[in-house]
Amino acid sequence: MQLGVGTAPGKVILFGEHAVVYGRPALAAPVTQVCATAVVEPGETGSGLVIDALNLHCRVTLDDAGHPLAEVARLALHRLGLSPPDWRISLTSTIPIASGLGSGAAVSAAIVRDLARAAGRELAPAAVSDIVFQVELLHHGTPSGVDNAVIAYGQPVYFVRGQPPQPFAICRPFIVAIGDTGIASPTKITVGDVRAGWLAEPAQIEMLFDRAASITEAARQAIAGGAPHELGPLMDANHALLVEMGVSNPQLERLVRAARVAGAGGAKLSGGGRGGNMISLVTPETAGRVADALRAAGAVRVIVTEIG
Ligand code: PMV
Repeated sequence: MQLGVGTAPGKVILFGEHAVVYGRPALAAPVTQVCATAVVEPGETGSGLVIDALNLHCRVTLDDAGHPLAEVARLALHRLGLSPPDWRISLTSTIPIASGLGSGAAVSAAIVRDLARAAGRELAPAAVSDIVFQVELLHHGTPSGVDNAVIAYGQPVYFVRGQPPQPFAICRPFIVAIGDTGIASPTKITVGDVRAGWLAEPAQIEMLFDRAASITEAARQAIAGGAPHELGPLMDANHALLVEMGVSNPQLERLVRAARVAGAGGAKLSGGGRGGNMISLVTPETAGRVADALRAAGAVRVIVTEIG
């Protein structure tokens, strides 16, 4: 018997990763082709709350202090005013881990939502986002908050650290082809390396962040103005800045180049970098060709998704 089900999508950062950690804006959107799902059922009497992470083949209880899954359940129960019930959560996810698609935040959001539903409650996106952020602090160290925001709101967002996310409507949808290098790259490491660069040469790195901010603002205008074809050159320009920040790698470069050669309007790495995913702007006409080119260039997975 199911007591509650919670789901949460993956996400891509369209513009502004890394700079967003330093107060510049970012644009991010949910990716609904991949998702995390958590199902709550009654457990054995006296079992307490048990989470079976089925993809990871592991079982976590609230006693596993410091484990992100135990932490999110503990925070959610606290927010709901519940003492630990004898429930079993089955957790599954189709979102690749450590690839910039927000797998950690989505798993957390699904657990928060399923516990709320099992308790007969519905938490507002801001409350879900807040709990997920607490857990992201464990994974990342200094998360900007963009991942939890876009996943909890389930809508494209304009995000500035420390401010409420601004969900935005997309009047003319556009298509991105997402290529996965298959290389797991923990965000904490690339964020730490960018910080080291910033500490060594603050003026130069701040300038890159400022340029990234201008690109993100221009992208927001292009989306608001119904001119998504303008996003391609902006993706290329944002990618060049990320290369200068030192977060690309040969595999990402290969995919970005392959997408452009196959006719994408523009392409960039997405998320922490040095692995994980890249995105490219495509049309219904170019999507198939770009997806094939990405696979031929080594992408282990390609997702073509409409944003909007
Ligand atoms: O979780 P990822 O890999 O999509 O990266 C998050 C984006 C960063 O700007 C690199 C970090 C952050 O906290 O915003």
